[in-house]
Amino acid sequence: MTGETGKEAGKEASKEGGGMAARSGGDDGSTEVNIRRVHRRDLNRIWEFLKLVFREINRETVEFQRPRTKQRFLEIYEEDGIDQLVFVTKESGKERIVAYAECAHDIVGGDNWVNQRYFRKREMRPFFVEELAVHPDFQGRGLGTFVLEQLEHLARLNGCTHLVLEVAENNRAAHRFYRTRSFVKLDASIFMAKPVQTDPDLLPPRRLAKRTE
Ligand SMILES: CC(C)(COP(=O)(O)OP(=O)(O)OC[C@H]1O[C@@H](n2cnc3c(N)ncnc32)[C@H](O)[C@@H]1OP(=O)(O)O)[C@@H](O)C(=O)NCCC(=O)NCCS
Repeated sequence: MTGETGKEAGKEASKEGGGMAARSGGDDGSTEVNIRRVHRRDLNRIWEFLKLVFREINRETVEFQRPRTKQRFLEIYEEDGIDQLVFVTKESGKERIVAYAECAHDIVGGDNWVNQRYFRKREMRPFFVEELAVHPDFQGRGLGTFVLEQLEHLARLNGCTHLVLEVAENNRAAHRFYRTRSFVKLDASIFMAKPVQTDPDLLPPRRLAKRTE
């Protein structure tokens, strides 16, 4: 991240109450969503939020499960170069997390899932979206679009040319969401399976003869 968008800068901005808000009225049933960077005290809440968002998706997905391990999630906060954003509303004076995004403009930590040369050869400067999650109660209301706009804004500020992310092929709703927003498939490893023909290791049941007196 640049100095402007890095975690430290974010901490300063949130201390000052900085951050962007979605335009909303209030009387018309709309909800105002603010963006701020993650604080250490948010981590447990975000972890629970992510587990909730991905619960159903994980049941149907063979690909790596989201969120990753809690330990990895906690480590990410300590790592430079990964930007973590929370999207929040106020309900009865209490803050509620309604979306979360995690991004980086460099490959950091153990997340070495891409081939950097692929991008260099094509003169692409990728901005990696590591996580994008909207609370189920808030899906379909334009919040995912707002998150994506924020990420694109950061990508531009960091001089990146493409948003790059990984999504499970059978996460159909997310696929539709990205495709209708001009994302194209780069390449993909597909999980394949072939049933292995084997005889059972245990013999079939056997009827025993009556005992002869
Ligand atoms: C995919 C996701 C980020 C979209 O966020 P969102 O707030 O629902 O998106 P928006 O309201 O801005 O846009 C809705 C669009 O997303 C699609 N969509 C995806 N999931 C949806 C849902 N549960 N309800 C309604 N629309 C949904 C709609 O088809 C709609 O498409 P359109 O605008 O082209 O007609 C969100 O549904 C989500 O967090 N899903 C679970 C986590 C996930 O799959 N994350 C992506 C993994 S990489």
